[in-house]
Amino acid sequence: MQVCIENNDKLKHMGTVALKPDRFVLRQFQLRDIHDVYVNWSSDKDSAKYNAWSVHESENVTKSYVTEWIECYKKKNYYHWAIIDMDEEVIGSVSVSNIKNRKKYCEVGYTVAKKRWNEGIATEVLKRVLEFLTLEVGFETVRAMHDVRNKASGRVMEKVGMIYVKNQMQFFFSSHNFLMNCSIYEYKK
Ligand SMILES: CC(C)(COP(=O)(O)OP(=O)(O)OC[C@H]1O[C@@H](n2cnc3c(N)ncnc32)[C@H](O)[C@@H]1OP(=O)(O)O)[C@@H](O)C(=O)NCCC(=O)NCCS
Repeated sequence: MQVCIENNDKLKHMGTVALKPDRFVLRQFQLRDIHDVYVNWSSDKDSAKYNAWSVHESENVTKSYVTEWIECYKKKNYYHWAIIDMDEEVIGSVSVSNIKNRKKYCEVGYTVAKKRWNEGIATEVLKRVLEFLTLEVGFETVRAMHDVRNKASGRVMEKVGMIYVKNQMQFFFSSHNFLMNCSIYEYKK
């Protein structure tokens, strides 16, 4: 007879704690990061191209976002890392969204500064974040999705061991609400 054991273990939320993949440090954003964020991706149209955010028109816009992110660190279920390189430059970010505690489900997104694309940075960092989210926090399913035209992002998902699930039209509520044809990938514990 098969016995169905319900998994009642709760997620062990611990907030955006510092993580250390091989070549980088992942830590909370700080106000001193505003300039790097603006120059390295938030002002760059190629970085925003296949994503649900609009290019920031000025560094002040980036300042308001970073200030809000810092405020959110008070919450134990807020995960948003700055990627820091050996020269202490902020060269990207990884964030978690759409957390469903009961289903132990969340979604991840990531960005790397254009001048550092194709050095394996997103792959290395995402691997460490997935390990943290599943083994330390306890998520059972982590999803990521990319615009079907964003081949580099799909390649990152494959390289970290995520499995392709399906293509789906997604509606994003943002400053520029829009429909995106997405490929969805999943990482299972
Ligand atoms: C997607 C992104 C995060 C990738 O970061 P990255 O650090 O360059 O990624 P990695 O170097 O780890 O891997 C990139 C892979 O994509 C491949 N790639 C790059 N451009 C490609 C293209 N046009 N077509 C196919 N593959 C491509 C690279 O060759 C590499 O694969 P390989 O190691 O097998 O050669 C980066 O391009 C980015 O920040 N883009 C803007 C924001 C964004 O789109 N984020 C993802 C949202 S879903």
